[in-house]
Amino acid sequence: MSDVLSLTRAARLIGVTRAELQKKIQRGEMISHDGTVTVGNLLACYPDAQLEDDAETRRIAQIKERAFGKRVLERSLPEPEVLAARIIELSKTLAHSEAQLKRFNTLLGKLWDKLNETEAKLDAGAHATVEELRQWITLEVEMATEPGFINPLAVKDAVLSVMTAQVTVLPSKHDFLVEGHDTLLEAAMRAGIPLDYGCSGGNCGKCKAKVVSGKVRKTRLHDFVISEVEKSQGYILLCSNTAVSDVVIEAPVANSVLDMPFQQIKAHVKTTGHINDDMLLLHLQTPRTQRLRFLAGQSVTLRVGQSYSAELPIASCPCDDRNLLFHVHRQNGNLFSDFIFDHLKHNDTVEVEGPLGEFILHDRSPRPLYFFAFDTGFAPIKSVIEHALSLNIETVNLHWIGSNPQSIYLPNIAHAWDDALDDFHYEEHVAGFDLRTVSGNREATLLKLLDDIHAADKNMLKGDIYIAGPEEAVSVAEGFFLGKGLPKTRVAVASVK
Ligand code: FES
Repeated sequence: MSDVLSLTRAARLIGVTRAELQKKIQRGEMISHDGTVTVGNLLACYPDAQLEDDAETRRIAQIKERAFGKRVLERSLPEPEVLAARIIELSKTLAHSEAQLKRFNTLLGKLWDKLNETEAKLDAGAHATVEELRQWITLEVEMATEPGFINPLAVKDAVLSVMTAQVTVLPSKHDFLVEGHDTLLEAAMRAGIPLDYGCSGGNCGKCKAKVVSGKVRKTRLHDFVISEVEKSQGYILLCSNTAVSDVVIEAPVANSVLDMPFQQIKAHVKTTGHINDDMLLLHLQTPRTQRLRFLAGQSVTLRVGQSYSAELPIASCPCDDRNLLFHVHRQNGNLFSDFIFDHLKHNDTVEVEGPLGEFILHDRSPRPLYFFAFDTGFAPIKSVIEHALSLNIETVNLHWIGSNPQSIYLPNIAHAWDDALDDFHYEEHVAGFDLRTVSGNREATLLKLLDDIHAADKNMLKGDIYIAGPEEAVSVAEGFFLGKGLPKTRVAVASVK
């Protein structure tokens, strides 16, 4: 095991979240260099680490299972061939270490003989010095070979390296773990890292990336042809390969909405479920070979029936790009919402166009996150929070402000996050009026509510603010935070009809 560990690997070894390590670094409790920690620093911070206890890791996995549904439950052991390849790699390392150990043993024996030879030639006065050296060597060898000297982190790392492999992406320096049957692309998406890709099925070549070091294995056949020259340079398809050993790849990562291509996809209705009289949960599924690439918080245009269309935020995480969730609000006289509520059924076709919008997470920000969801503004915020959780960002504050109690239509999701995560804080507030129309007294009432929320949390202005909901309410809230002196770059807004 290397003496220098990425935060992802260090968190995994100790059994805590990456977010916890980041907090320690920010507080100056742990020394980190360029996103890495040394084994010594890690053990200094966690001298009592229960290396056999991965309760925290399991707890986070359960949270993600809840957040992402069945997709994560489908996880399993790596394929037998991958497991075998990893064990072979580990065996090679072991064999190399054994050979090296033998060489050092021989060297030590020769050193001992040389010491005796040299001592015989020295005068009596130097014997004490040689004896002192002999005792020192004996002590050091005893210490180095006693069973307690074995680094427990190295043992756990070796076990984990059979089950998972770490991938580092250049030049962005993102890193993630590959588990189970996951391809490199699937693992990156689970970890919330938006690598470039298209079809996910080996046809388009958009996920082509270069392996800089480490071993990969093709786990799926692909139609896209990589030339022999490119193969010899290390190019592979991320959607068709998994990692056998720790791997470094060169691959572009989407940094902004400009990196997202415009797509047109015919999706199918998987389910429609009434949340209450006014809200419906629409679940669309895209074809396997044509998934929607988007950033958390973005919207799409949906077309149904003859010509009914609307722009709706995606209420799910980009890490599950085949399953798209939408929260549809019934609005009297709106033909699109009427059609969805009254006519749309399982397997109907829905045209999806997009993605649209710039309401996305600034994932490199070290600041705590504050979300203000007004009514259906919860939809894009849910997507962004799920993305933040997949990045192991857990310092999240969510305020859901409803026109009335029914407008807070999925409180159980927010309560589940609040219950499960130590640094997740959720509060509900009822405005008592329609948040689509905010002027006069209503504006004053809303400002008073925001002021009360702000007064109860003095750290709020140290965070990044995300606001989504009906345009008028969003505008009031944006003005409130800009008025408190926050720069526009730290107040992200999205209007949701
Ligand atoms: S995403 Fe199309 S070939 Fe991999």
